[in-house]
Amino acid sequence: MSKSNAGSYTLTDNQTGQNFELPVLHGSIGPSVIDVRRLYAETDHFTYDPGYTSTGSCESKLTYIDGDEGILLHRGYRIEDLAENSDFLEVAYLLLYGELPTEAEQTKFDSDITYHTMLHEQLINFYRGFRRDAHPMAIMCGVVGALSSFYHDSTDITDPHARMVAMYRMIAKMPTIAAMAYKYSIGQPFNYPQNNLSYAENFLYMMFAVPAEDYEINPVLAKAMNRIFILHADHEQNASTSTVRLAGSSGANPFACIAAGIASLWGPAHGGANEAVLQMLNEIGHKDNIPEFVKKAKDKDDPFRLMGFGHRVYKNYDPRAKVLQASCEEVLGDLGINDPLLELAVDLEKLAREDEYFVERNLYPNVDFYSGIILKAMGFPTSMFTVLFALARTVGWVAQWNEMIEDPSQKIGRPRQLYTGPAERPYVGLNKRG
Ligand code: SDX
Repeated sequence: MSKSNAGSYTLTDNQTGQNFELPVLHGSIGPSVIDVRRLYAETDHFTYDPGYTSTGSCESKLTYIDGDEGILLHRGYRIEDLAENSDFLEVAYLLLYGELPTEAEQTKFDSDITYHTMLHEQLINFYRGFRRDAHPMAIMCGVVGALSSFYHDSTDITDPHARMVAMYRMIAKMPTIAAMAYKYSIGQPFNYPQNNLSYAENFLYMMFAVPAEDYEINPVLAKAMNRIFILHADHEQNASTSTVRLAGSSGANPFACIAAGIASLWGPAHGGANEAVLQMLNEIGHKDNIPEFVKKAKDKDDPFRLMGFGHRVYKNYDPRAKVLQASCEEVLGDLGINDPLLELAVDLEKLAREDEYFVERNLYPNVDFYSGIILKAMGFPTSMFTVLFALARTVGWVAQWNEMIEDPSQKIGRPRQLYTGPAERPYVGLNKRG
């Protein structure tokens, strides 16, 4: 393939000598793309890219990542600025509508979300069908998928108003669903949402309040919760977002699409890593054991990987990890907690970053490396870490889903393959088989 000009690449079939022009499409910033939509029709060949390492699946205006520089933008605003100055529902509005809201717009959006936080009372029965020791992500998958059987008036994806209602319902109800999953697991009564609380405060209340006494919101925890939600809101075409888009491309209802995203996020290579990082740090236990685990992580015959390290896109420090590491020290300090796991994590990062295996492969801490230490200090059990990731990422999932539905070029996602199975062969009756 040779570059004809800034506008196209020429693909040459070495056997026939035939040339095919492939147009190049340019974005506002970041890599351009070679448009291969006509490739199969003109060459009878597919592209081949397991894991989509070099494949753009869509056009999007929501989030931009510069993996080499470690930059993350939401509608052009740096994640560091949003984490420091913004509020989670303001970031949600930004992702949904493309601009930071005016005060009046923010007030209305907050109110609209607040007044959708309650669940249909019958949904509570779904929890009682789970074992008490069910993983809360299993409960999230089940309950969110069931929402489509309760909210028929917001499943028509061709109706922009129905889509907006469904998106608001998802953003509003995820904290309630998540908190109920936790309360069910510890045998405590559910807390109903409180309309006088902010999004982050309300979630903390539903998680940790008990009927036996008043619950006082700790401003340190509320600020940390808000920041953690912002840092997890959206992240371009990651595995779970691509799952939501693919499910949505068939016309599936929004609740089913989000349930699919939750399932994909659960994997330890993706959102399940934050839970795996805490398990790994507890297994390492002491600084003296770090070299043994780094050696395991480098051993190709050992499936162990350094959880919270590495990223498909970032070949530099994940900017979210930097904010979370700084927040670790701030939150633990404010709470007067001295967690040896933080010091162990810092030591692990230092030793790994001095090892050429990690340096050569540009493996840095990602968003999951420090998040669990803060969440543990805030009182969340490890099993809830990925639930919180799903709660926050729901904003990105619904915004990406809606962008896909509104994209005039969108089609049902249907990848092809390189077939290496048997060619056609005649059926052999049972009595004639060897
Ligand atoms: C998230 O996509 C997103 O944006 C996701 C996310 C989001 O916000 O949505 O950012 C959230 O999922 C963060 C990632 C959380 N996962 C983990 O922390 C799990 C540990 N990390 C790895 O499993 C891995 O780094 C991935 C899955 C994150 C990325 O894998 P890639 O892009 O497929 O990279 P790769 O497996 O091809 O690795 C390249 C090389 C390999 O070695 P070689 O074959 O070149 O010799 O780096 C090695 C890998 O073996 N490697 C690691 C490693 N990560 C990569 N070796 C040891 N420990 C690791 N963590």
